[in-house]
Amino acid sequence: MANKIIIVRTIAELRRHIATWRADGLSVGLVPTMGALHDGHFSLVEQSIKTTDRTVTTLFVNPKQFGPHEDLDVYPRDEAADVAALAEKGVHMLFAPSLDEMYAEESVTAISVPGIGDVLEGSFRPGFFTGVATVVAKLLIQALPDRAFFGEKDYQQLRVITRMTEDLDIPVEIVGCPIVREEDGLALSSRNAYLSPEERKNAPALGQALQKVKDELAAGTSITATVEAAKASLLNGGFTKVDYIAVCDRNSLEELETPTKEARILGAAWLGKTRLIDNLG
Ligand code: PAF
Repeated sequence: MANKIIIVRTIAELRRHIATWRADGLSVGLVPTMGALHDGHFSLVEQSIKTTDRTVTTLFVNPKQFGPHEDLDVYPRDEAADVAALAEKGVHMLFAPSLDEMYAEESVTAISVPGIGDVLEGSFRPGFFTGVATVVAKLLIQALPDRAFFGEKDYQQLRVITRMTEDLDIPVEIVGCPIVREEDGLALSSRNAYLSPEERKNAPALGQALQKVKDELAAGTSITATVEAAKASLLNGGFTKVDYIAVCDRNSLEELETPTKEARILGAAWLGKTRLIDNLG
């Protein structure tokens, strides 16, 4: 049965509702999203509902995290469908601010997270993590929830947000939630909607290549040899370009020379015009 969901569009309204909940002694969970919601997002919502008294989802397609040639203009948007699904899941409030509400014309401050925000995704998508860190810092400060929930699908994003939250002493617990996958192993992503039927068939190969890297490292193959083999297998399997496959320390995301138990294997590759990312621990 669908919940009555409160929809707010201003920071003042968001704060007013949260203050009322706080006055009643209720805890608050925040699930930031850019909409186009799928089961990956719903797993974050479920985690929030399970562990806090009131769940707020945010819906804001943040232009600051898109590069000039990226998909901001065509990013999938369907607020009515998202609202209906969130109500069905029992979310209490949706914060869906306008661009002007989120970024006043005179606003110039940006938050960068050097090091961990410069490698991997950061080196292929300059400015991306500054855009993410800036909007997430704003959302956390606007709502001041007890916990905020992010998917491990965007593993580097989760690490950047955790670092930023700690560095800025924002009193919010950042909770990472496991990747949700289709039956054939493809990690759920709003951008999967861009895949043609042929590309969709080939897409699970990215996750499979990362799993093979993991298995081969466990069997004693060197990182260089297994990573090169994984890149070649993707290019043979219909992927048009591999940005990276990397074996990194799971906290710092520094690339490892020899595998350890703390390793996280991350990859990004293109199927035509669609860029997919995936990772596993
Ligand atoms: O992962 C996303 O959807 C976005 O990067 C986030 C965290 C909502 C910030 O815009």
